[in-house]
Amino acid sequence: MRQLPEDFTLGVATAAYQIEGAATEGGRTDSIWDAFARVPGAVIDGHDGAVACDHYHRYRDDVRLMADMGVQSYRFSTSWSRVRPDGGDVNEEGLDFYRRLVDELLEHDIAPWLTLYHWDLPQALEAKGGWTSRDTVERFVEYATSVVEAVGDRVPTITTLNEPWCSSFLSYTAGAHAPGRRSVRDGLVAGHHLLLAHGLGVDVIRGSAPDAWVGVTLNLTVADPVDPSSERDRDAARRIDGQFNRFFLDPIFRGAYPDDLMEDVGHLGLADAIQPNDLGSISAPIDLLGVNYYHGDAVSYEPPAVPLEQDAPTSREVGSPYPAADGVHAHPRGLPVTSMGWEVQPEGLTRLLQRVHEEYAGPALVDLWVTENGAAYDDVVAEDGAVHDGERVQFLEAHLGAILDAVDAGVPVEGYFYWSMMDNYEWAWGYHKRFGLVRVDYETQQRTLKDSALAFQRIARDRAL
Ligand code: NOJ
Repeated sequence: MRQLPEDFTLGVATAAYQIEGAATEGGRTDSIWDAFARVPGAVIDGHDGAVACDHYHRYRDDVRLMADMGVQSYRFSTSWSRVRPDGGDVNEEGLDFYRRLVDELLEHDIAPWLTLYHWDLPQALEAKGGWTSRDTVERFVEYATSVVEAVGDRVPTITTLNEPWCSSFLSYTAGAHAPGRRSVRDGLVAGHHLLLAHGLGVDVIRGSAPDAWVGVTLNLTVADPVDPSSERDRDAARRIDGQFNRFFLDPIFRGAYPDDLMEDVGHLGLADAIQPNDLGSISAPIDLLGVNYYHGDAVSYEPPAVPLEQDAPTSREVGSPYPAADGVHAHPRGLPVTSMGWEVQPEGLTRLLQRVHEEYAGPALVDLWVTENGAAYDDVVAEDGAVHDGERVQFLEAHLGAILDAVDAGVPVEGYFYWSMMDNYEWAWGYHKRFGLVRVDYETQQRTLKDSALAFQRIARDRAL
């Protein structure tokens, strides 16, 4: 038995577009994901979030389920298109949904953890340039203000963005996520504007919810050279680290883009997007950093002998088309993989937390949280109606164990959110990938606790692995 630290928080995470449904109810209008899902070939089988888990209508039952599972904190996001349809005026009916959700959570003793932007920009703002337009940053500030004024006094933790790497490079350069643009420049400019939205968002939260803990969630990776003795492989790892990690960490924690990254990509449009006070705004002091970790990669400039499976839009392509990582390839290491094709690499999480603590969070006195970690597997419903997802149980225990290893090595980690509370809309994969602790039957909207939910419940009860 390994005990969890006394104040360690166990939570689960979701995001608005992935679970809410009710896409045209309560005044909501299209986000870029509603529009992207209509583009032929963009999302597998053309799936969209119109109904998703119908959480908009079933949130009370979902909160009760979480309470049954022993969830201490629930990480969710608000939908910009619900709160300010088309990015315009405030829609009180949209805000009311989140007021009710927060009430419900507090009644069940679950701490709400709010993410302001989890990828669902109003489509009307995309039509005006989306994240490549500086004006979108101003619109984000307005949107953030309305959400924080409505619920900020009752939400202990508020983060600005979820995984800005995805909403910039994966969306504006790789074209794999909404809005599906394929431009090196657009990805870099969107990345910078998202960082600026984060920095200005921090000020909004401080102003309207002075008691809230404030931060951001980044998806970080661990890049290892295929051959550590090869200078070229080490350089490949440096480039991946720059593209995925330091592009975001350095401006936020150090108020500057890294020199090597500026050398690699500054001339591709990034330098032109930076205005005099931007980096000062971006580096506004924060209280916490949320790390989302799924897997790392072994990388080299050489292609692997056996190509990685590339059967989906969000494949494990790590180098091209991402400008700072151009020419770099990931190599399989023979580790087990999830149904996303992602390697299961819990020790990477231990190393990542150590590194982020030593280089960024520790010196800045910023708390470290794991705001996402989880696995998709091809779950099967057994004859008794149960889901015996032993691989997910192992995944959960192994990654919590990896966090405890980091804690034992002196890294204070405040808590862990499993992704996801329930099966949901996995973006370009539609409903084909199931990450949930709770199974969702999309025909009937019936929820079933998988074995992994029972494992979570046991860990939450015993406070031990
Ligand atoms: C990252 C994202 O934040 C979330 O929306 C997504 O579903 C999971 N990881 C799994 O890919």
